[in-house]
Amino acid sequence: MSYDFTGQVAIITGAGGGLGRAHALAFAARGAMVVVNDLGGNRDGSVPLADGPQSAADKVVQEIIDLGGKAIANGGNVTSEDDMQAMTDQAVAAFGRIDVLVNNAGILRDKTFTKMALSDFEMVMNVHLMGSVIATRAVLPVMKDQDYGRIIMTTSSSGLYGNYGQSNYGAAKLGLVGLVNTLKLELYKSGIRVNALAPVAATRMTDDIMPPQMLDLLTPASVSPAVLFLCGKDAPTGEIITAGAGTFARAQILESEGLFLGADATPEMIAESWDNLSDMTAARPYKQGADQSQKFVVNAFENKG
Ligand code: NAI
Repeated sequence: MSYDFTGQVAIITGAGGGLGRAHALAFAARGAMVVVNDLGGNRDGSVPLADGPQSAADKVVQEIIDLGGKAIANGGNVTSEDDMQAMTDQAVAAFGRIDVLVNNAGILRDKTFTKMALSDFEMVMNVHLMGSVIATRAVLPVMKDQDYGRIIMTTSSSGLYGNYGQSNYGAAKLGLVGLVNTLKLELYKSGIRVNALAPVAATRMTDDIMPPQMLDLLTPASVSPAVLFLCGKDAPTGEIITAGAGTFARAQILESEGLFLGADATPEMIAESWDNLSDMTAARPYKQGADQSQKFVVNAFENKG
């Protein structure tokens, strides 16, 4: 199976550096016309970089053009509905369609939960979760008209598994998985596939939390093939791919089979049965929440007097 994006248009948010830049270069190298979005902020999103907004995006666009590709820059803020609508209009005006949206823009404001200002919690939620919501809503009418679209949400091991000092970031990142879980159902008939990427890469987000020997292995470019796979014509939907330093894996939310203890169950009974009901040997994922709810009703019926 080959992954050729000739004639397709890919928007990558936060693509002025790090992972977004690598994704933009990877799409361009395989023929896509790329919209490189970045507002040019610093790591905590508090102030624009000294050389001004959009300069980061402009540089990546120049790199793509120098390599013979096609790209345009957009300096919009993913948290602004007006900016994301303008980005959508700009993409359609320049290239005529939108096939791919990679929601990648992000910031960090780490602190333990009790010490974290609510404003830092909200800011991180806004950029990661609402930013992805706003960009996705902006491009959806175009994708629906085409009956085709590929959307990526960038999640994180911090959301999937937790990370000390990252309650805001982890909450936002797992919120994106919740968004994927519903969008995969709502958009399937429109030919739109929605998936999540949990990357690990050496970028300015991670340059002070890992030793140089580890960072050398974790190139952003080694993650991008996972994004291209999830944006191909035969892409799956509702998947979470984890990727870093050349290893790719699938993450899933699983639930144990469980045990029917009856409507009069007590906490003591749950404690006594914990080993049994928490046994993950036959654990399985569910396609949607309603399928999981059915298990409870079926168990209750089957065990009725
Ligand atoms: P980065 O800091 O190099 O890239 C993020 C980019 O987003 C920056 O260029 C920044 O200017 C841009 N940005 C920030 N706020 C924006 C906004 N409101 N509107 C438009 N652009 C905005 O960091 P990195 O590592 O490349 O992160 C990319 C994504 O991958 C983020 O969503 C991050 O949370 C996620 N991620 C990264 C991991 C890693 O190991 N580097 C691990 C897990 C997730």
